[in-house]
Amino acid sequence: MAKKAELASGEKILVTAALPYANGPIHLGHLVEYVQADVFVRFLRLSGKDVVFLCADDTHGTPIEIAASKQNITPEQLIAKYYEEHQADFAAFGIRFDVYHSTNSPENKHYSDLFFRKLTDKRLIYERLIKLTYCDSCKRFLPDRYVRGKCPKCGADDQYGDQCEKCNATYQPVDLVEPKCAICGSLPVRKQSVHYFFKLSDFSAKLTEWLDANHIQDDVRHFVEGWIRSGLQDWDISRDGPYFGFRIPGETNKYYYVWLDAPIGYIAATEKYVKDAGGSNAVDAYWQNPNARIIHFIGKDITQFHLLFWPAILMGAGFRLPSDIIVHGHLTINGEKMSKSRGNFLVARDYLAAPAHDPEFLRFYYASHLVKQRPCWELGKFCAPHLGVHQ
Ligand code: 2FM
Ligand code: ZN
Repeated sequence: MAKKAELASGEKILVTAALPYANGPIHLGHLVEYVQADVFVRFLRLSGKDVVFLCADDTHGTPIEIAASKQNITPEQLIAKYYEEHQADFAAFGIRFDVYHSTNSPENKHYSDLFFRKLTDKRLIYERLIKLTYCDSCKRFLPDRYVRGKCPKCGADDQYGDQCEKCNATYQPVDLVEPKCAICGSLPVRKQSVHYFFKLSDFSAKLTEWLDANHIQDDVRHFVEGWIRSGLQDWDISRDGPYFGFRIPGETNKYYYVWLDAPIGYIAATEKYVKDAGGSNAVDAYWQNPNARIIHFIGKDITQFHLLFWPAILMGAGFRLPSDIIVHGHLTINGEKMSKSRGNFLVARDYLAAPAHDPEFLRFYYASHLVKQRPCWELGKFCAPHLGVHQ
């Protein structure tokens, strides 16, 4: 008889890679994950498994709205451009998704509203008046990343409103010395607003149980259990306009926070896949089926979204939970994470344009490097005993 962890024949498997933001190009840092997941999916396909590999563009949030306004285009125009570009880049690197969708889609609107309704009906969402940082001249609330100033601890200049990159101190935007709006340079003020909160604090015990029972790397599990032990705070799932996202039903100027509707995009992409494929397959065959496998690949920076918020809202809304979450580290350059916000990235297209830069070389390099870092756990080796997959 197959062991519990093994992939039973005929079992439905859904593999996801994190949804890239639709406000910048795919770079070599992103590709670590997409290559890793693609190698794993190719192996499953070669083994005759019933696997669907999905992804989508993550289209909502303040940075997308601001990037579009800086370019004098609408957010819809901006995300349309990246939708084409991202798919072309993935294809050029041999990453074969079965569906590539968008979080700004009717399917995602449907599921986001469904989650919101179900969670509200179960009294897992409530409203609370909070104080936020606001720019009177831009007429907008400022996310932490849009407030810059001197670190209150070490005095380093030009730090973000949440954390100092020099001394790692964490604080509130109001604590910054000489804070400035990162868009216009004005002095921000404090302003009240009513926001919607999800009762994450109700889920400590259930999350611990799920973490213990599932296939999560030990180091990641210990980390997440530490967060749970130190006490979960309820989660603010709304944002005031101007914001690019789905408006909350019954509100005129409040939207779902991008991190609420982004993972719901996994379900929306599944719906798009089953609709396009025709036949009798259905979303519920994955997201309501305890015998299916749902495997997420993510980078370590988005662990709390996938290992706390996402399973908690799935539990609250009555969907099944992911079976496996594979967390990878970051590609570094001169010791720093390659990232869009740091500006130290090498664009996938520039790699392709350089002479003798075959995409297969990069795929091979990543796959072989992942094996060296974490033998057996990493999937490039085609050996993942925790998933029941052996060479
Ligand atoms: O960190 C990021 O790049 C996010 N766009 C990933 C979203 S994954 C999922 F939750 F949608
Ligand atoms: Zn401003």
